[in-house]
Amino acid sequence: MFATVKLGKKNGELAKKLFEIRSVTLLAKKNYSQQVNVDEFFKFYSDKVYHDDRYKPLNGKDYDRFISMRSARREPAVTRQITSLSYKVGKQMISLAEGMPNENVFPFKRLLLDSSCGDPLELEGKELAAALQYLPSQGLPSLLTELRKFQDDLHRPPQLPRDILVTNGSQHGIYQCVELLVDPGDPVITTEFAYTGIHSTLKPYQPEIIGIPEDEDGLIPETLDSVLGERLRLGLKMPKVLYIIPTGSNPSGTVLPEARRRQIYELSCKYDFLILEDDPYMFLNYTDTQVPSFLSMDTHGRVIRLDSVSKVVSAGLRGAWVTAPIPLLERLELHMQAELLHSCTLSQTILLQVLSSRSSLARHLIGARQFYLKRRDALNSALEPISDLAPYSVPKAGLFFWIRVNGVSDVFNMVFHTALQQGLMLVPGQAFLFDSSSPCQHVRLTFSRVRFEDMETAVRRLADLIRNEQQIKKKMYANDG
Ligand SMILES: Cc1ncc(COP(=O)(O)O)c(C=O)c1O
Repeated sequence: MFATVKLGKKNGELAKKLFEIRSVTLLAKKNYSQQVNVDEFFKFYSDKVYHDDRYKPLNGKDYDRFISMRSARREPAVTRQITSLSYKVGKQMISLAEGMPNENVFPFKRLLLDSSCGDPLELEGKELAAALQYLPSQGLPSLLTELRKFQDDLHRPPQLPRDILVTNGSQHGIYQCVELLVDPGDPVITTEFAYTGIHSTLKPYQPEIIGIPEDEDGLIPETLDSVLGERLRLGLKMPKVLYIIPTGSNPSGTVLPEARRRQIYELSCKYDFLILEDDPYMFLNYTDTQVPSFLSMDTHGRVIRLDSVSKVVSAGLRGAWVTAPIPLLERLELHMQAELLHSCTLSQTILLQVLSSRSSLARHLIGARQFYLKRRDALNSALEPISDLAPYSVPKAGLFFWIRVNGVSDVFNMVFHTALQQGLMLVPGQAFLFDSSSPCQHVRLTFSRVRFEDMETAVRRLADLIRNEQQIKKKMYANDG
């Protein structure tokens, strides 16, 4: 399933390992009473096999049409290729080639990182030196092996040549993918309100944003179909990529149900676009349904998946990875060579430690979900009494409430002037629009860090602000009238 980029074809040993199925089973507490099975917890695929013969899977040269002009001009850095080679050749090789520093000048002696998630990480001598040295651009080889297995176990992606690149956070992956796929002026599909980081990355490309509305189950496939059908009929330029957060959309908190994911996947084949699946909230799904990922459905080589441990393990670690068809991943790696050389080696070493005990990780993730769920529920209880002023749907996943403020057509003034004066920080909805100067009725509230005891006060202040803003608007209309 996963072939290494450098080898370009499957390595028998590795492939064998990848198909091993883990039998670790852990019983842990969920909602303080239910029991959770680790294999089920880490299951993001369907047992049912789907294949749509109407469309041909993409391969090799097919990807050329998706690659931006800028990315197509990238060429391999010879010294980076030598670094990769140096990780593969035997010890008998005398190297006068590498530009690596000598580890003996590194001043560090020992690193001990104790953790509630698995064994402590203890590094000394050669191991510590290796964790502080340059790497091949794709990532730490042992981490890549673990990640290939992780993706295979969690998503069981259909067998197509794909591989992984370790990035410096998912935002970095977004940036790389935009550079890979988007030429100035290209159309890009997103949800109507989308994560700020995709917009800020896209801005300099002056794309045409095709913003598809969501309901409480996320992006509406029928609308996407009719919008794209109409574009085709009118002979307009068609988008090469859809950016989507399938679980815990930021800001809307929706979880796309499996049926919608399958419909959207089929549309990607019908209208020939790629799906950029950004899924940092996958472990913060508060519903009882674990939904198969787009990667798990990717029979036709159309999914680029972004994973990140920022929300559940550590944000500052910048632990993230891209899983993509090999022709695309090769381009991303060239970008990495030029941009960063590689993601931080020490972070990758820590990430490897975190991922390598699946049962400890499951226990930690279940705890993290429970932790956030309590906060979601507490903020929900605080917000319920003002739901006539600010209606909302309870977020099904992720970290955000997305509320619509009644009687206030634009919340900008309220958020940036009155709310701040009243000691309340909020995010105005326009932060999630490509054109952030547009008026917007929505506000995003985050429940991840606010103290329980501050929630009711925060909501009381919010309610006062909304009433105040509604009065101002009323007076303005009365004066205009
Ligand atoms: C949807 C989404 N994608 C990506 C990111 C960035 O994640 P990372 O810390 O891995 O760069 C965020 C952070 O808020 C996010 O909400």
